[in-house]
Amino acid sequence: MTEDLNNKRDIYFPSYNGTNDNLINLLNRATQILCEWFSKAEKYGPLPFDENFNCIMPEDDGNSAEELFSEIKSLLNNSFNPVHPGSLAHLDPPPLIFSILGDLIAAGLNNNLLAYELSPSITLLEESLCKWFAKKIGFNDLSGGIAASGGTLSNLNALIAARHNAGLGSDPNSVLLVSEDAHSSFIKCTRIMGLDESNLVRVKTDNKGCMDINNLRKTLDKCSIKNKKIIAIVATLGTTVRGAIDPIKEISRICQERNIWLHIDGSIGGIFAVTSIPIEGLNSVNQANSITINPQKIIGITKTSSLLLVSDMSTLENTFSTGLPYISSKENITNRGEMGIQGSRPAEVIKLWLGLRFLGLKGIEDILKSSIKRKDFFIKKISKNKFEICSGPLHIVSFIPKGVLPKDSDSWTKNKVNELMRNNFMLSRPKFKDNYYLRVVMGNYNTSESHIEELLKFLDA
Ligand SMILES: Cc1ncc(COP(=O)(O)O)c(C=O)c1O
Repeated sequence: MTEDLNNKRDIYFPSYNGTNDNLINLLNRATQILCEWFSKAEKYGPLPFDENFNCIMPEDDGNSAEELFSEIKSLLNNSFNPVHPGSLAHLDPPPLIFSILGDLIAAGLNNNLLAYELSPSITLLEESLCKWFAKKIGFNDLSGGIAASGGTLSNLNALIAARHNAGLGSDPNSVLLVSEDAHSSFIKCTRIMGLDESNLVRVKTDNKGCMDINNLRKTLDKCSIKNKKIIAIVATLGTTVRGAIDPIKEISRICQERNIWLHIDGSIGGIFAVTSIPIEGLNSVNQANSITINPQKIIGITKTSSLLLVSDMSTLENTFSTGLPYISSKENITNRGEMGIQGSRPAEVIKLWLGLRFLGLKGIEDILKSSIKRKDFFIKKISKNKFEICSGPLHIVSFIPKGVLPKDSDSWTKNKVNELMRNNFMLSRPKFKDNYYLRVVMGNYNTSESHIEELLKFLDA
């Protein structure tokens, strides 16, 4: 090694034999800046953004730590702030403290879940944690799962496995059944699978936003008359706009009768199934072949954190295994790059594991129950005379004033969202059945009843 390179060794990378004082110093400063940003949330609001924010690109010479820390501060000060109590727009709660630590450790480890030899302890950790989840929701010993980068990818992993299991390949005659309120990413999934929107069959929902069982039966009969082959039926456990739960028990019965793969998109509500919180349908989730659970969306595991759990792990291995010719394998341990779409993956599971270990089941329940409590409080207090309200058993409420015509809902919600933002409340405005609604997601642990009362004042509700 040349002198030159030696000089830069512990500036570019951690030292393998020194005390890493430089890194310790930098981490301390970064931690300080991050924590100052958290505590300044009240001053800046949920979504500060200066149009003059400068995205400075790398130059010939590298920048000093001083310059970079100043840019980090500017980046933070112009970022969405999930810890602000008015951050109520989306499924992006404040980050769990032990999850932040997990992300730091995962970055430092830089292990790769592609293969056991690149991540021995993390491979075992991910396998065990998926199994723990699978057992908690009532799957048996054959079950397990794989983590992925978000709900869309977990669902896609499941659908590809379902199709492989049904021996359908990219048969253009194959269809996927979802409710009309299922998440928009299923459109992407069908495209990625070499199909198009005509292969995505929408089953009607009832007036509570749940899949209509009679319509499901009729749709299946129609499919069979037209000789369509069913890849899977997707039941949504928590719809995006109103948090509705499809009738999982009845859907699972139909799937068993007709030998169809049942996938549950539990991106929003799946995590409730590991607790004893009594919500209808949760004790039937073990009847599914696969379920997506997305702990990033509600309990604050830092992004990304999503799991696909399957009742039979061999379905994933049969679908995705390639032999991975350039990696050694170990007896009885499957390389986890062979169980899903993604190859290289970071050791993200650490933040899920640390977060859950810190919370315990009681902590998970506390966070979930508190979101439902905030939703219940909001619904109790909002004027039912003035507003049409769409909600379900989970923590999401969409609403619109009763007098607003569908053609005016776009401008009404736009104006209201802007007005609320000026008062440090961030809500979203989903388009739902040709109407725009305001949506509040009550997953923010920092939001108190007095914040909700203040929000309702701005809504004139
Ligand atoms: C019900 C549902 N499924 C899937 C997704 C997609 O999840 P992700 O954004 O993590 O890919 C979402 C996102 O909000 C969702 O609400």
